[in-house]
Amino acid sequence: MRKPFVAGNWKMNTDSHTSVELAERIASESMDVSGQVTLGVCPPFVYLQAVAKALSASSVSIGAQDVYYEPKGAFTGEISTSMLKDIGCVYCLCGHSERRHVIGETDELINKKTTAAIAGGLLPILCVGELLAEREASQTDGIVTRQLENGLAGLSAEKVSAVTIAYEPVWAIGTGLTATPQQAQEVHDFIRKLLGQMYDDRVAGGIRILYGGSVKPDNAEELMGQLDIDGLLVGGASLKADDFLAIIQAAI
Ligand code: 13P
Repeated sequence: MRKPFVAGNWKMNTDSHTSVELAERIASESMDVSGQVTLGVCPPFVYLQAVAKALSASSVSIGAQDVYYEPKGAFTGEISTSMLKDIGCVYCLCGHSERRHVIGETDELINKKTTAAIAGGLLPILCVGELLAEREASQTDGIVTRQLENGLAGLSAEKVSAVTIAYEPVWAIGTGLTATPQQAQEVHDFIRKLLGQMYDDRVAGGIRILYGGSVKPDNAEELMGQLDIDGLLVGGASLKADDFLAIIQAAI
């Protein structure tokens, strides 16, 4: 009932040439599976338009890696929801762990961005996940609860249906350490139950929860085999067309 969703987060990688080259290969080689899986890529802001053009004949959507919550004005360096909509963006990451832990974004800011994204017609992918020390101190559930309750604060059941959740344990991002499928499933199950308490079981059952953190072609299938893993948010491996395409195949 939840269609698989595979998204690539290119982070601060590619250039004007390689971003288009990568998008063109993903577009042409994912055609035959387009009905079975939702696909998206999140290139750097400056390449969004060129990538959108390269993907225009495909079913692969573009997403932004971040968004600002104000509609316009004196916010130097920021990008609004309407700008992203204007160039064809469908998705937008909110609260990626690198924005939380490198840039210093708070739950409150992430909530404003998530809320603004929905109001502006974008589909936010709200990222949550614990640090290694937090996992070791058995705080995973508490951290994920805080990030979800604060990140989704004020959103009605109707609005929250626009949201995809991505569980990305920080210790598994870019480290080659993947959560085992069982570890990931445990947290995904916890997240779905929490969404059930915050909203209801019907809403919780409809929200896709992606796993992210060192997803590779050789672990994608087993991760996707878990009951509450509805898709994958892929970093490093989404920069290699062959790997990303293999992950897509593993997800269907
Ligand atoms: P890696 O797949 O490189 O670990 O990155 C995961 C991620 O942060 C996706 O948003």
